[in-house]
Amino acid sequence: MSKAAPRLPWFGPGKFPLYLAPMARHTDVAFRQVCKEQGADVMVTEFVQSEALIRDNFKAWEMVDFTEAQRPMGVQIFGATPASMAEAARLVCERVRPDFLDLNFGCPAHKVIEQNAGSGLLRCPPLLYDLVKAVKDAIPHVPLTAKMRLGWDYATVVAVEVAGRLQELGVEALAVHGRTKEQGYSGEAHWGWISQVAAAVDIPVIGNGDVKDGASALLRRRESGVSGLMIGRAALGNPWIFRQIKEAMGGQADQPGGISATERWNCIIRLAELTIEVHASRLGTRDVRWMLDRMHPLTQGLPGSRKLRDRMRHCLTLADLRRLRDEHLAEAVK
Ligand SMILES: Cc1cc2nc3c(=O)[nH]c(=O)nc-3n(C[C@H](O)[C@H](O)[C@H](O)COP(=O)(O)O)c2cc1C
Repeated sequence: MSKAAPRLPWFGPGKFPLYLAPMARHTDVAFRQVCKEQGADVMVTEFVQSEALIRDNFKAWEMVDFTEAQRPMGVQIFGATPASMAEAARLVCERVRPDFLDLNFGCPAHKVIEQNAGSGLLRCPPLLYDLVKAVKDAIPHVPLTAKMRLGWDYATVVAVEVAGRLQELGVEALAVHGRTKEQGYSGEAHWGWISQVAAAVDIPVIGNGDVKDGASALLRRRESGVSGLMIGRAALGNPWIFRQIKEAMGGQADQPGGISATERWNCIIRLAELTIEVHASRLGTRDVRWMLDRMHPLTQGLPGSRKLRDRMRHCLTLADLRRLRDEHLAEAVK
């Protein structure tokens, strides 16, 4: 059963929120909008460096941006200095008023852990706790959540211990990615550990790792005791996954044939339009080539997808992309 969190009303009896996982360079305002339209319940910005926010770096503040339609929204920040994390949290809450502020204790990237941030903090829980205390004191009126991995490696899994302390410090929900830092994105997420964390704390735990369809979501919900699920990579090529999981939870079987080619193309064009709306006016270009990489996962499942991606490379404008859609759909029905 989903545990309640008084300041996070999407948890509680009868509720089971599906989160879109934060993914740097992917889950911007445009992609989040697509996922929201397909049933994502709660979303979080990609991680943003606390120091960059304090320096008023334009790109960092752009990453924090969201629309009212995307609420409930969390802003995720990372860093390793309690004072800067507290100041960045305060600025974010003052300027963009997210529904919650989220702390990143999971990123395994070298340039992040070498600063002791992200999953680097799992090697040093006392610093992690100081950081949480500082942020909590800076934004007492805004719910604070965190996202973490299991630990640095399998010899030093700290997730249960850290989760208990985070709860004492006032963290109101916790997303757990069932991998260690050493694992990166390889191997499988260890849901046994996620279950142990969920059993050890009273705050909602959101389970994350390798949920890829309705069946895996049902299994994880049934077996792990989590209060919600977070979906990352599977959503990049399949933003419909949120709707599909909800249908599976409602007892509906998968649609025969899955997502149609027309539906896929509509989604590609929608994402392109939204991306242009969000970024191109600032970049001062109608050239779409710079954003075509983001469309690639969405072409999976279209007939001749590899060749299609080659053809996509020649699209300069949205009109070219629309023309390619028409040609490709016409070829598909031949
Ligand atoms: C390209 C990419 C970027 C990511 N960026 C972030 C991030 O900014 N913040 C974060 O907490 N996790 C980040 N993650 C981790 C995901 O949120 C998620 O924990 C991970 O992908 C496992 O979930 P999945 O198996 O559903 O993909 C990223 C993952 C990927 C693949």
